[in-house]
Amino acid sequence: MKKLLFQFDTDLHPSVFDTVVGYDGGADHVIGYGGLTPDKVKALVEGTIFTRAPKDKKNTAIFVGGSDIVAGQALFTAVQSHFFPGFQVSVMLDSNGSNTTAAAAVAKLATSGPLAGKKAVVLAGTGPVGQRAAAMLAKEGAEVALTARTMARAAQACADIKTRFGVNISPVEAFDNEARAAAIECANIVLATGATGVELLKTEHWQHNNNIEMIADANATPPLGIGGTDMMDKGIGRHGKIIWGAIGFGALKLALHRACIAKLFDDNKQVFDAENIFALAKEMA
Ligand SMILES: NC(=O)c1ccc[n+]([C@@H]2O[C@H](COP(=O)([O-])OP(=O)(O)OC[C@H]3O[C@@H](n4cnc5c(N)ncnc54)[C@H](OP(=O)(O)O)[C@@H]3O)[C@@H](O)[C@H]2O)c1
Repeated sequence: MKKLLFQFDTDLHPSVFDTVVGYDGGADHVIGYGGLTPDKVKALVEGTIFTRAPKDKKNTAIFVGGSDIVAGQALFTAVQSHFFPGFQVSVMLDSNGSNTTAAAAVAKLATSGPLAGKKAVVLAGTGPVGQRAAAMLAKEGAEVALTARTMARAAQACADIKTRFGVNISPVEAFDNEARAAAIECANIVLATGATGVELLKTEHWQHNNNIEMIADANATPPLGIGGTDMMDKGIGRHGKIIWGAIGFGALKLALHRACIAKLFDDNKQVFDAENIFALAKEMA
């Protein structure tokens, strides 16, 4: 029986990245639907749960993606609201690679040193990756702050994280590189999760900061988020700090994403979100 992965995306066009990883993770066929909102998924979900016998339902799964993590969470919840005993399929949330990317970055940082009790700053942490990473760092016992170019954006992201994970993240307004350098002055861990191709710090903003122990940067598109690092850095030392570049931890992100897709087809009751994706990342790191 063919393994079918239904890709439910909150953006107009379902993510090509997620389609490719869907196939690479073991789906025989990936079917994408874009522009989805909670009120539009009932019939789609019914199509997944009513079509195969109980023993065969494990061959159908749903992947929720898109560039807005809050919209993704709402869609993920709506999908599951249409399940009932005996009628459900496995489901995964990974808007913009948020869970898998954040989990891989934080898990790799954890291999380089303890996170508990450390001061961590997530630069440009308002996107899907940054929000998940901030939550994971906080769950590991770090004291976490998150920056955005406006206080309103930072505060909203912290409130959304609190609602979902129950952890307190401090919002910080940091409009430019100088303000971001000030925001990391007391930080032990810096994780950059800014938009593709946006430089958040230059080398001089971090190289002489003696508080910083570890830096990770999610952006693999030049210019990198953290100047003076290399996207291939795999926990190497630069200016006395341990550096993880986007491709350096990205291999784990891809392996993790594929592993989660494969597990969706183990049975029809898998529910993959931040907590169990992060747990798997720590096993794989
Ligand atoms: N390494 C990997 O395996 C991997 C996998 C997936 C994604 N990624 C990367 O992870 C990063 C984060 O992804 P995402 O989807 O969470 O990002 P995103 O939502 O596109 O952007 C994150 C934040 O960047 C800030 N930003 C945008 N333009 C900016 C500018 N000109 N100056 C300063 N800040 C700016 C915005 O914050 P405010 O407007 O609130 O200031 C935005 O919320 C991206 O670089 C992405 O390519 C890496």
